[in-house]
Amino acid sequence: MISGIGVGAGYDKTGILVDILAKNGANFVEVGTVTPRPQDVKNDARLELDWKSRTSKNSLGMPSPGYEIVVKNIQNRSSNIPILLSVASNRNNNDIKFLGQMIDKSPCIAGVINPSSPNAPMKISIQDLSDVAGTVNKPVWLKISERIKVPQSFAGVITTNSNPGGVAGEPLKQHAIDLLKYYVGESVPVISVGGVMSRDDAVERIDIGAVAVEVVTAIYLYGPQWFSNLGEF
Ligand SMILES: Cc1cc2nc3c(=O)[nH]c(=O)nc-3n(C[C@H](O)[C@H](O)[C@H](O)COP(=O)(O)O)c2cc1C
Repeated sequence: MISGIGVGAGYDKTGILVDILAKNGANFVEVGTVTPRPQDVKNDARLELDWKSRTSKNSLGMPSPGYEIVVKNIQNRSSNIPILLSVASNRNNNDIKFLGQMIDKSPCIAGVINPSSPNAPMKISIQDLSDVAGTVNKPVWLKISERIKVPQSFAGVITTNSNPGGVAGEPLKQHAIDLLKYYVGESVPVISVGGVMSRDDAVERIDIGAVAVEVVTAIYLYGPQWFSNLGEF
């Protein structure tokens, strides 16, 4: 079961940071997004961090060393905090047949299908992804940035992804809260991510009804020690 405050997808894309994040107090890590085969960053890849506005802006294009390397890295960890594995198909290739297998075969307690990356969106219908989720023997969450009807085969939604320009952090806060309220109203379980910069932000999400909370930009800005200094920022 996932609960508390964890690290969202995009910080530990390779699965090598789980121990250091656990040591600093993360309750869980969403590793990835992982693709079946390795893929490089896009040619124009950039990650901009702005401490003043507590914002990140990325156009990385979902680089991944590929599933096999990530699984080996996760197997080598020594901490036992829960791992979610975020998966998507390779860029320009909407082959979804490996998505379920990657989740089933890796040492994660649940999977996440991520069709909603602004830099590498999957052009697959939610219904087709739901069919994949239905074949997996673990809970599968859907990473999504808008209001949709969520098929029953998903455990719930992780919302929200970076905005269409790749912007995340503080500017996403209101959108993430609006989506959380919407899905709680629809009785869909939510892991809330987007603009969580402090302990108060995380508590607010749990109070609204989130099952758990994730942070990404705050860890890029302040490092894994953000967890041990929660509330200081
Ligand atoms: C550099 C960077 C890379 C990201 N990569 C991924 C990714 O691979 N898969 C994914 O689902 N989300 C990815 N995200 C989105 C985050 O998981 C999260 O949804 C978004 O950043 C909002 O959270 P935040 O405001 O705490 O950053 C990435 C975000 C950043 C900043």
